[in-house]
Amino acid sequence: MNLTPKEIVEYLDKYVISQNDAKKTIALALRTRYRRMQLSEELQDEIMPKNILMIGSTGVGKTEISRRLAKMMKVPFIKVEASKYTEVGFVGRDVESMVRDLVVSSIAIVKAEKEEKNREKIENYVINKIVEKLLPPLPSGASESKQDDYQRLLEAMEKRVIAGEMDDKIIELEIQKIHVEFNDTNLPPEMAKVQESFSKVFSQMNKEDNKQEVTVKDAKSILKTEASAKLLDSTNINAEALKRAEDGGIIFLDEIDKIAVSEKSQGRNDPSKEGVQRDLLPIVEGSSVTTKYGVINTDHILFIAAGAFHVSKPSDLIPELQGRFPLRVELESLTEDTLYKILTQTKNSLLNQYEALLSVEGVKLVFEDAAIHAIAKLAHRTNELTEDIGARRLHTVIEKVLEEVSFSADEYKDEEFIITSELVHEKLDVVVENDDLSRYIL
Ligand SMILES: Nc1ncnc2c1ncn2[C@@H]1O[C@H](COP(=O)(O)OP(=O)(O)OP(=O)(O)O)[C@@H](O)[C@H]1O
Ligand SMILES: [Mg+2]
Repeated sequence: MNLTPKEIVEYLDKYVISQNDAKKTIALALRTRYRRMQLSEELQDEIMPKNILMIGSTGVGKTEISRRLAKMMKVPFIKVEASKYTEVGFVGRDVESMVRDLVVSSIAIVKAEKEEKNREKIENYVINKIVEKLLPPLPSGASESKQDDYQRLLEAMEKRVIAGEMDDKIIELEIQKIHVEFNDTNLPPEMAKVQESFSKVFSQMNKEDNKQEVTVKDAKSILKTEASAKLLDSTNINAEALKRAEDGGIIFLDEIDKIAVSEKSQGRNDPSKEGVQRDLLPIVEGSSVTTKYGVINTDHILFIAAGAFHVSKPSDLIPELQGRFPLRVELESLTEDTLYKILTQTKNSLLNQYEALLSVEGVKLVFEDAAIHAIAKLAHRTNELTEDIGARRLHTVIEKVLEEVSFSADEYKDEEFIITSELVHEKLDVVVENDDLSRYIL
């Protein structure tokens, strides 16, 4: 969490090409939260996060930036589509459920950390349980030498279980449903609690039915869940998770333009869009939301909203909501050069993905540099001629180029298949320049 803005941008550079303004703004926002946490509590309360609005047409990296951030920062993070919410009273998900989702994500993080810390304990629990099943217990009153023998047997068995030698053996396990979680965050927390107690009672009544024959391998993972539920203090985890979501949580509100009501289409619009915006206000501004795990205050949660704003504009959002996203960043549309870099300089780029996929068939795919330039050029050209769908165009273009070799990969087994610029042009020129064709194919 304590990465400097520079380090955050450097990390993002590995996956997202250009869009430097957006990267910088977000990196700075994250660092500001780290700085805040170092201050006295009194000051901490005063400093509110500055929410960010990312504006950029489709396929230029808005979601990608946030996806990568989430992976890197081990902070509670969720991405939600604004368009899936409906006003309270309408059918659909209510807006507060996003905060509950955030808490759930926070719990997962904290839990994973605790499990890592207690790994040895958990492993011991698992192994002991399995060994117990595999070795019948010693009858009571066994002689001392018998007990010694048994002890040796136990240890030998432990080793074999750990080494995975017993993985295929079948054992009988009482599957305890101690931790029936209802993580349908759309339910009011009170309801979720009731449901949970019901299922607890049920699982206790059905103990006998819960006996199952499983392989040792499966038992390991089943028992692991059981162990972490038993050994880790869930009250503790929940409290810490709530706190972390409160202080460090990030909610990424994608497709926010879809709930804006543009002047042009007014009247034909779903009236609940504006309602969703109104429901969003208190959450973005800071309010208390009740979750199954306790009450969470949303004051310091950082909101990053993103949208293409093709049809509507940021000014079509209700003024109060606009005001709550003071930082605006625009993402540039992608040039031919950027597209080329996306293909060649990103980690796990599309080209690498296809190379890896075809290597499974024994085909070594080689892209000539000129061919990559050609792909970028034609993708850019298609974006200009038809719709600008940004980097997503690369997918369709490459798919078209590789169509044949992908289909008949078996014919090229153990061979190199070189993608030349001639091949790219041969496959694409006709399609790109023919408006009707490219609208359907690319
Ligand atoms: N600047 C970029 N650098 C690297 N990859 C990119 C970039 N822009 C887009 N991509 C790639 O294009 C695909 C789509 O990008 P992304 O999901 O970020 O689009 P978006 O801006 O969120 O669009 P939308 O408005 O449609 O949601 C992703 O697979 C991503 O890897
Ligand atoms: Mg997106």
